[in-house]
Amino acid sequence: MFVLVACCLLLALSVSDGTLVHDINATVGDSALLQCSANMYPTELRNLRFYWQDDRNVVLYSFKEGRAMAEHANELYLHRITAFPQDMKTGNVSVKLKNLTLEDNGRIFQAFVAVSESGGMRRQRLICESNLHVAVPYKNVSLALNFETMTAVCTTKRGFPEPLVQWMLHFSNNSYNIIDSKDTHNTAMQDPHDSLYSFNSTIHIPEGPYHSVTCLSHNPTIRMTLNTTWILNKGAAMWSLHVWAEGLIVAVLLLA
Ligand SMILES: *[C@@H]1O[C@H](CO)[C@@H](O)[C@H](O)[C@H]1NC(C)=O
Ligand SMILES: *[C@@H]1O[C@H](CO)[C@@H](O)[C@H](O)[C@H]1NC(C)=O
Ligand SMILES: *[C@@H]1O[C@H](CO)[C@@H](O)[C@H](O)[C@H]1NC(C)=O
Ligand SMILES: *[C@@H]1O[C@H](CO)[C@@H](O)[C@H](O)[C@H]1NC(C)=O
Ligand SMILES: *[C@@H]1O[C@H](CO)[C@@H](O)[C@H](O)[C@H]1NC(C)=O
Ligand SMILES: *[C@@H]1O[C@H](CO)[C@@H](O)[C@H](O)[C@H]1NC(C)=O
Ligand SMILES: *[C@@H]1O[C@H](CO)[C@@H](O)[C@H](O)[C@H]1NC(C)=O
Repeated sequence: MFVLVACCLLLALSVSDGTLVHDINATVGDSALLQCSANMYPTELRNLRFYWQDDRNVVLYSFKEGRAMAEHANELYLHRITAFPQDMKTGNVSVKLKNLTLEDNGRIFQAFVAVSESGGMRRQRLICESNLHVAVPYKNVSLALNFETMTAVCTTKRGFPEPLVQWMLHFSNNSYNIIDSKDTHNTAMQDPHDSLYSFNSTIHIPEGPYHSVTCLSHNPTIRMTLNTTWILNKGAAMWSLHVWAEGLIVAVLLLA
């Protein structure tokens, strides 16, 4: 299968109240850097106080009096956070959340920070916000054709979130038609245990001098697209050349 990957895409925008909002898109098992920098350098680390919490007000990490307050961090996050004390001197209070799971998907993380000259009682203020989107890549997309009914079914299994499936019909002169989404019949099934989706898309192949049919499955969170093609004019039993070639490569590797 063919894979186009764009990992860990980051988008930052500033909202009107001065809070920095980041969108973080990442893959399950990876880490996400929750970015935040105060616009002041603390003269000493004990003049810096901050904490990160999620949208349930569950604390990920807390720093006060020059040290991490492990007792303030929730068990859910305690062993999954890396902090960067060397960067805190410049007001950078970013932390890294490791081993992302789908439980983290859709969470909003907020950093509350105070920098004071005297180490006094300045209130910690919300200055950064990160919205986390976690994906599970689909590993495979497969195509099945029924030449009696002239239907094609594209199947992709066990990924997250729901994929966007698109169909193309190619002519032998390299031009193609994209099938209108209203002419596709899609079924999504979500596994209740792990939230992963399996997806079916069915089309009726219209009559025409088409050379091949391609199904593309796009994961919108990590912008990864898988595609598979079936050559039509070589008959029912023939997979497209590149799927066949891939099988050959696997066979060669197995032999080696
Ligand atoms: C399918 O994937 C291959 C490899 O990434 C790419 O070269 C090709 O353009 C893709 N086909 C379509 C129709 O996007
Ligand atoms: C803050 O520190 C983190 C961790 O070292 C680093 O990856 C990030 O680039 C720093 N941010 C800024 C704005 O310097
Ligand atoms: C990551 O999380 C999963 C599921 O909670 C767990 O099974 C696994 O051991 C964790 N891995 C690490 C390196 O912490
Ligand atoms: C991909 O799908 C095809 C067709 O269903 C199947 O033969 C193949 O084993 C699958 N590959 C993986 C890695 O699951
Ligand atoms: C390619 O072939 C199709 C069908 O024969 C035709 O409709 C289309 O105009 C052709 N496109 C080009 C660029 O020649
Ligand atoms: C896809 O279609 C097959 C055959 O029609 C069916 O068995 C399967 O349950 C469908 N899967 C989904 C996710 O709809
Ligand atoms: C991040 O993921 C969300 C949810 O799937 C998506 O809407 C957004 O476009 C993605 N952002 C980037 C930069 O890929």
